[in-house]
Amino acid sequence: TGLTSFPKVKVANINDLQVNQPITFNYPLENEPNYLVKLGQPAEGGIGPNNDIVAFSAICEHMGCIYHFETSLTPYGGPNVPGGHCPCHGSLYDYLEKAKVVGGPAPCPVPMVQLVLDSSTGDIYAVGMNPPTIYDHGTPC
Ligand code: FES
Repeated sequence: TGLTSFPKVKVANINDLQVNQPITFNYPLENEPNYLVKLGQPAEGGIGPNNDIVAFSAICEHMGCIYHFETSLTPYGGPNVPGGHCPCHGSLYDYLEKAKVVGGPAPCPVPMVQLVLDSSTGDIYAVGMNPPTIYDHGTPC
């Protein structure tokens, strides 16, 4: 799907997050799962006091499988990083670098969920996806 405007949806409170324990939430549509995770180390585009909270689409850009979050991927030739590992054909997404593909056949990163933290309440909201187009069969990313 490619939406031109996105809803603002509460996905968690910052006090509920534990390092490396992802929360799954559907956004922007009911059949579009994402992972929200506090990585415990600064990440590109991360929010929160330590810039370590990120969220990404859980739908693999290769052929649409739901991938898993793992705390320590082993990219070919690179250092271990936290991120996504797809069980279907082995694609790896580095969550420290906006889900850059670091292994397997995925043609592009999974979209990052744009998050906003209300620092007075600790509530975390999803407000968009970047890029806005989530995996769709047959649609090149
Ligand atoms: Fe994820 Fe092929 S569908 S690697």
